Amino acid sequence: MYKFKNWFLDHYKQSVKIKTKEEINNIYKACQLTSFIYEKVIGNDLKPGVTEIEIAQKIYDYSQQYGADKKLAFPTIVGSGSNSSFIHSTPTDRVIGEGDVVQFDMGVKYKGFCSDLSRVVYMSKGSGKYSSQMYEKYKLVKKAQKKAIKSLELGMPFTDIHEQVVDCFKKRNLHYYFQHSLGHGVGLDIHEFPFVNKDCPKDVCPSEGMVITIEPGLYFPGEYGFRIEDTVLITKFGSINLTKATKEFFIY
Ligand code: GLY
Ligand code: MN
Ligand code: MN
Repeated sequence: MYKFKNWFLDHYKQSVKIKTKEEINNIYKACQLTSFIYEKVIGNDLKPGVTEIEIAQKIYDYSQQYGADKKLAFPTIVGSGSNSSFIHSTPTDRVIGEGDVVQFDMGVKYKGFCSDLSRVVYMSKGSGKYSSQMYEKYKLVKKAQKKAIKSLELGMPFTDIHEQVVDCFKKRNLHYYFQHSLGHGVGLDIHEFPFVNKDCPKDVCPSEGMVITIEPGLYFPGEYGFRIEDTVLITKFGSINLTKATKEFFIY
């Protein structure tokens, strides 16, 4: 058992990828493109009456128009209404309507390198039936994410950063609704070591050249869900958010 534990720790640490300057440039480009496409889609294409599949297709079309690789980093998620309550939904022909939450999780590749961005919007100017309750929860997720990114910058162990977010939700008795890792490394693969969760070895900490996502979420089965995700570069001067897309909640 002891031996296995040591092997596991060594294996884990050796698998954490520190990116070169060139790799970082490619990830940066992929993140910039993804943020640009997200803002273009919510600005031009996301209107009541379109389907999730049509929006996912638009995202792909823009990725090709603006120079991303042929293959996306992973299948795009566009989950509206109750579909947003599934952590990994697949776009359907559900028609997006006024008063719907719409969850996006999207990423392009650039020269083989991935980006990973999640945003969520509410299809109303705030007058919808559930908007105030939803907005409180949305703001909580956003606050948890901000705090986690700050802790990343301060070099806190990944497992503690995950725990900190769980505690933040626990204060509102909402921790049962957060059921996945807080984040992961990103590079040539969309999911790389380290994983920001309770299983990450205690002494694995953010360090220069890592690219990590921070993606807290709350999912209320059959109702709605939110996940906000950014891809963040760790430098010796702190962290840089590579996915600068707007976090505006009320749109349309
Ligand atoms: N898009 C996959 C993930 O966020 O991990
Ligand atoms: Mn992710
Ligand atoms: Mn994602």
